[in-house]
Amino acid sequence: MKRVILAVLLASAGLMAAGDTVSLDNGAKRYMQKCAVCHGPKADKTPITKMKPIAGMKAEKVARILVNYQNDADNNDLRISHGYSQEMVNATVYLSQKDIDDIALYVSSLK
Ligand code: HEC
Repeated sequence: MKRVILAVLLASAGLMAAGDTVSLDNGAKRYMQKCAVCHGPKADKTPITKMKPIAGMKAEKVARILVNYQNDADNNDLRISHGYSQEMVNATVYLSQKDIDDIALYVSSLK
């Protein structure tokens, strides 16, 4: 595993810092698995009419929203701008903090 990570790091020593590339790749992968079906592959679709596309939303905001949904599975305490759906709770409940951060980074990089 260490060797694989090292190989990836060496391979991606380019314009971007290596760590960012790894996180973006993981974020893109997770986004496709967990989010694209409703928000669109480029995050430019909206699952409900009142909402704006999430592409380009600040990473901190995306991460905060995802954590809020995730926590709602336990404490029903949610504050987001556009209603509330069990679908979003289901999409976030098993994500690790790293996946949340990486997905947020990926969404913020889209436009
Ligand atoms: C099954 C459909 C579905 C999936 C899968 C899904 N979402 Fe959502 N998402 C919604 C809906 C519907 C809303 C509107 C708010 C609500 O109903 O809770 C929403 C709201 C949001 C918002 C808040 C937007 C705003 O303007 O307040 C963000 C950010 C978001 N989703 C990101 C994600 C990410 C990232 C993933 C993947 C981890 C994801 N969603 C997976 C349907 C989905």
